[in-house]
Amino acid sequence: MRIPVIAGNWKMYKLRGEAERFIEELSRQITPAEGSDTLGSAPALKPEIVVCPPFTALESAVRAAQGTDIRIGAQHVFWEAEGAYTGEVSPEMLRDLGCQYVICGHSERRQYFVETDELVNRRLKAVLKAGLTPIFCLGETLTERETGVTFTVCQRQLEQGLDGLTPEQVAQVVVAYEPVWAIGTGRTATPQDAEEVIRFVRAQLSGSFGAAVGEKVRIQYGGSVKPENIKELMAQPNIDGVLVGGASLQVDSFAKIVNWRDQ
Ligand code: PGA
Repeated sequence: MRIPVIAGNWKMYKLRGEAERFIEELSRQITPAEGSDTLGSAPALKPEIVVCPPFTALESAVRAAQGTDIRIGAQHVFWEAEGAYTGEVSPEMLRDLGCQYVICGHSERRQYFVETDELVNRRLKAVLKAGLTPIFCLGETLTERETGVTFTVCQRQLEQGLDGLTPEQVAQVVVAYEPVWAIGTGRTATPQDAEEVIRFVRAQLSGSFGAAVGEKVRIQYGGSVKPENIKELMAQPNIDGVLVGGASLQVDSFAKIVNWRDQ
């Protein structure tokens, strides 16, 4: 059984005080998720809850999250451990702060900051080497979907992003399927469309790294996730969590997403 991962990506929002207040309030609103799922006898695993503030609010967020079930992630990282790289932040620095996750290859970075598959690959390797968990984002643009190359694009991003990783390393990665046309647009992929691509990604992982790895890797959906659609998304057999942008900025809506089983 895969433990669900619900992650919030704050992007370039929130100052330190806002981050602290958010985490304190979120920890009050999280409901325990032990017990069983409504339909079956399978135990309902408590989800991992991750919040990814901007670099400047990471330390405050880590402090506020101490003693809670909330984990903190960064939104970006450089691949070298140290050196003359003005403005960059290394995985070791993030670990030293108390971060446990790092988002790699987000489509906004691919779109605005010339993030290629090869650079995503370097980041993934460095993040894993530092003992952090990467949230590896991939997904097609609207034109790519409309021209019928969704699977080809996702396969390329997956293969090149994970190039040279061992099966043991791949098993640690959280993959986030985020169709670019669904990010920040209010237009969510249908649960069936998301499940179809995620099932494909899992099959690719099994083919390249072995069935056990394919079974183990957690794959999230991201793109206009909100309290109104979380339940249906989480009901899909291959969707193991979500990466939430806009709806993770308000504590009430993010708490509803984290507590989706209560709906
Ligand atoms: P959104 O963003 O939820 O605002 O669509 C998702 C993301 O960018 O990860």
